[in-house]
Amino acid sequence: MEFKRTNMAGMLRKENIGDEVVLMGWVQIIRKLGSLVFIDLRDTTGISQIVVRQSNEKVYGKTKDISKEYVIEVKGKVSERESKNPEMPTGDIEIIADKLNILDTANTPPIYIKDDDNVSENMKLKYRYLDLRKPESQGKLKLRAQVVKTIRDYMYDNNFIEVETPMLTKPTPEGARDYIVPSRVNKGRFYALPQSPQLMKQMLMIAGLDRYYQVVKCFRDEDLRANRQPEFTQLDMEMSFVDQEDVLSINEGLIKTLFDKFTDYDLKLPLDRIDYKEAMEKYGSDKPDLRFGFCINDISDLFKDSEFKAFKDNTVEGHSVRAINFNGQSENYSRKQISKLEDFTKDYGLKALSFIKLNEEGYQSSIKKFLNDELLENIKKRLNAKENDLIIIAADKDKTVLEGLGALRRKVAKDQNAYEKEYALCWVVDFPMFEYSEQEERYVSQHHPFTKPNEEDIKYLLDKPEKVRTQAYDIVINGDEMGGGSVRINNSSLQKKVFEALKLTDEEIENKFGFFIEALKYGTPPHAGIAYGLDRLMMLFAKTDNIKDVIAFPKTQSATDPLTEAPSIVDNDTLDELGITVNDRPVSEE
Ligand code: AMO
Repeated sequence: MEFKRTNMAGMLRKENIGDEVVLMGWVQIIRKLGSLVFIDLRDTTGISQIVVRQSNEKVYGKTKDISKEYVIEVKGKVSERESKNPEMPTGDIEIIADKLNILDTANTPPIYIKDDDNVSENMKLKYRYLDLRKPESQGKLKLRAQVVKTIRDYMYDNNFIEVETPMLTKPTPEGARDYIVPSRVNKGRFYALPQSPQLMKQMLMIAGLDRYYQVVKCFRDEDLRANRQPEFTQLDMEMSFVDQEDVLSINEGLIKTLFDKFTDYDLKLPLDRIDYKEAMEKYGSDKPDLRFGFCINDISDLFKDSEFKAFKDNTVEGHSVRAINFNGQSENYSRKQISKLEDFTKDYGLKALSFIKLNEEGYQSSIKKFLNDELLENIKKRLNAKENDLIIIAADKDKTVLEGLGALRRKVAKDQNAYEKEYALCWVVDFPMFEYSEQEERYVSQHHPFTKPNEEDIKYLLDKPEKVRTQAYDIVINGDEMGGGSVRINNSSLQKKVFEALKLTDEEIENKFGFFIEALKYGTPPHAGIAYGLDRLMMLFAKTDNIKDVIAFPKTQSATDPLTEAPSIVDNDTLDELGITVNDRPVSEE
């Protein structure tokens, strides 16, 4: 560089006319028009137009070599533009180049540095450093930095202390598989990357830190979705001598601060609360999307004496007949389209859907021959149904019906854009402690095993685990789980009992959690906490439904990084040193 940068390209305005400036950046476009060369010079703040006159022979000569994405420095005078461009913030001015140097040349970029290019996701990730040159991509990272700063300020103002916890650690059970790191010094032993800093933050409470928080990377080897990454960031926090109400209230303050700063929405506190059971029954999900209605109703009782066997058989314990009134949607769904909805719910295990379409002339229904006037009236009454409504009914095991109809209400709302509000936030509370895993044939933690069972339910821990409730809470925004936490166990024998309820043997408890049970024995304050998925919060504020947009270097759906080609093959010497043998070793790329 011959000069010192004096200004940023996107910041120059009319007021700068007459200033001598030095700009540095990338060539967005270079155009020759008669005796003039125009260069759009881009830096992180925007674009300024540079004009090179043929009369400035030295500089004019240099422009012959310049093409897109070259890095240059330009010294010149800010002048008023003849033909102004109202579309550009700097559209009133241009810089008449006096001097110009090429700081680096550039190959033709494989993707356009333009917000609305149509390049494949794989290409975008392979050339992420070029993709990030786009103002829109950079904007999301800048927004992220502002959100994190706002969070840090809030936490600091509320006496939280930021503490870093280790990445090379012991497994923390959060329901996913661990990423494992081999130890060279301790052959045959492995660290796990943290699924969350759960145990560390609890030990910081035992250590007496009172209020901890951290913006921290977490690692989970699980099936990836649009809102999941194998490594993601949590805003993690823990507080001592508090109850559930204290945690919710501090967090409502935080959410309100973020909404006030990063949305136009006037968020009203306190947030709605809905208990887990109601969320499941009414919305078929523990993360209910409350931006629209389409609630699920149990209509089993109406079919107890029905001649329709398929429904009648599902009026027994553990099964049910349930319906949604998709109000106003009758016209929008032909029989054919309803059968497409049926295909959709098949993926959730529902064998069939029945429908009743109410219209001016009366009604159409796939179960017409089983509906008498009285039954139809009763269904309509229960569902508050009127002309133009579409009623969808499903009958099966409770869980299948609820999950299927829960997914269906989300799909119809999305397809018909039936959202009544932009944001709907709620706390889901009163979670059961355990859920039965058909796959593992045992009870597993609904949240995690450090969650405190309700005092009056402790007696059920070993014999009737399904009856145990907890003080666990999730914050749900627009049907997405943004965060979750709980009041914790602060007593070693209760902690051990919970592990026993999860069918861990004494040996497993000792090996996996011995250190933690021991830590709980030295005076543990009552404590509680929560963690947010920061990337998910960012998706909300950046208004994107792809988590990759808010992460600088995200991974693909199959947990790979097309840019660095990680994960990669490790050479034999390294494996030997670690004492590891790999079966089915892939052939090296070399
Ligand atoms: P939990 O497992 O609910 O709780 O995680 C907290 C929040 O982290 C986000 N999240 C993810 N985001 C992106 N990609 C993923 N793979 C992913 N997995 C989780 C979600 C979720 O709500 N230690 C407890 C918290 C506590 O009890 O304090 C925990 O980790 O938004």
